[in-house]
Amino acid sequence: MKETTQRGQWGSKLGFILAAGGSAVGLGNIWRFPYLAGENGGGAFLVIYLIIVALIGFTLMLAEFAIGRYTQSDAVGAFKKIDKRFGFIGIIGVVAAFFIMGFYMIVGGWSLAYIFKAVTGAISTTDEGVLSGAFDQLVQNNVQPIIWGGVYIALNIGIVWSGINKGIEKASKILMPGLFIIMIILAIKSLSLEGAMEGVKFFLKPDFSMVTPKVILAAAGQAFFSLSLGMACMVTYGSYLKKEENLVKNAVIVPLLDTFVAIMAGFVILPAVFAFGFNSEGGPSLVFVTIPAVFTTMGVNIGIIFSTLFFILLSIAAITSSISMMEIPVAYFIEQKKWTRKKAVILTSIIVFVMCILSSLSNGTLSDITIGDMNIFDFYGYLTSNVLLPLGGLLISLFVGWKLGKKNVINEVTNDHTIRFPLVNFWVFLLRYVMPIIILLIFLSGLGWFQ
Ligand code: TRP
Repeated sequence: MKETTQRGQWGSKLGFILAAGGSAVGLGNIWRFPYLAGENGGGAFLVIYLIIVALIGFTLMLAEFAIGRYTQSDAVGAFKKIDKRFGFIGIIGVVAAFFIMGFYMIVGGWSLAYIFKAVTGAISTTDEGVLSGAFDQLVQNNVQPIIWGGVYIALNIGIVWSGINKGIEKASKILMPGLFIIMIILAIKSLSLEGAMEGVKFFLKPDFSMVTPKVILAAAGQAFFSLSLGMACMVTYGSYLKKEENLVKNAVIVPLLDTFVAIMAGFVILPAVFAFGFNSEGGPSLVFVTIPAVFTTMGVNIGIIFSTLFFILLSIAAITSSISMMEIPVAYFIEQKKWTRKKAVILTSIIVFVMCILSSLSNGTLSDITIGDMNIFDFYGYLTSNVLLPLGGLLISLFVGWKLGKKNVINEVTNDHTIRFPLVNFWVFLLRYVMPIIILLIFLSGLGWFQ
């Protein structure tokens, strides 16, 4: 397919890996993964998560890259270009992007707020009561988290505004390596705490009696979420890729990188939770309560410096992910609705901000509004991770397997047979039959369709 010259492109190989890796590695790995593991039985959750990542990670990521680069289009346009009737797959992605941003930007705002809590020493303690009190006070407030969420959205606007390689790529290049280093330091510290071994056991020793269809669905949903799969995010990013890049290699590296960071976060959080005797089922507060406690054991001053640094890096990891979500509707509005980038960014941000206000208030004033037992904040997360992303993944898998045309798909992922990919036929087989069946089974059992 011919390249259109006015579209953006990634500047370098490393740039793309860091941008796609930056999209994958985010709050999903550091904030969400440890608390889901804590809530869903530790080791058993980890094992199921790893199996699902091994199954869908490479297979689906390569599928998304392939559609994106083949069509050189936004999430909706990519499907439409191949068959007019299938634009709806991209629409599901655009809708999912709004719902994810509707809570992600709020958590990003919490992270920004914690930079300041850390600086002032307000969270320099190992006392669970004080730490959870500080968390509740922030998230249940009617004004503060919305202001922080607004600041966080503004930072995203700043980056997405300046377009693909200038904004997104440059940001990721600087930010990703820093995060890696601090996570390693944290893991070492956490593992050396007295009583940490209990947490390591909890995390690594699977107790399969804990496994229910709900746990499996949660692990699958988390896999989609963490790998940024199922809503054509990697389609959009893939569309900015040059023809000579090796898609196969990228689809191996990005899931590995992402899984490495998630496991690392598990080794930071869970040993500390057990060492301090905190509640492993702390949910969304878990990281915000545990991390400051770990740092405090390094001494108050060092603790302040490191926890400030940590929340700066967490915010940054979050931003490299949320810009990839914002890029989905933005690219769609630009290419399908012919809007300018500025107009697309502004309208997207306004919708996201309104959705964020609702989800934030649902942790306080609006907590009485529930949808199927969940407040609005939790509902956004459930709807996207456990419903829309697996559904999108299922459709994308079928689409690439059956609609794109086997010859086209194979030419695209092997760069017209210049790249060795011996398993290419097996990969297409996975997309056609295995992925759809697995996703469907996980999906239906998790939704309680058969017991
Ligand atoms: N993967 C990111 C994280 O772990 C979140 C994310 C970014 C995402 N882009 C996405 C999730 C697209 C689903 C789809 O924080």
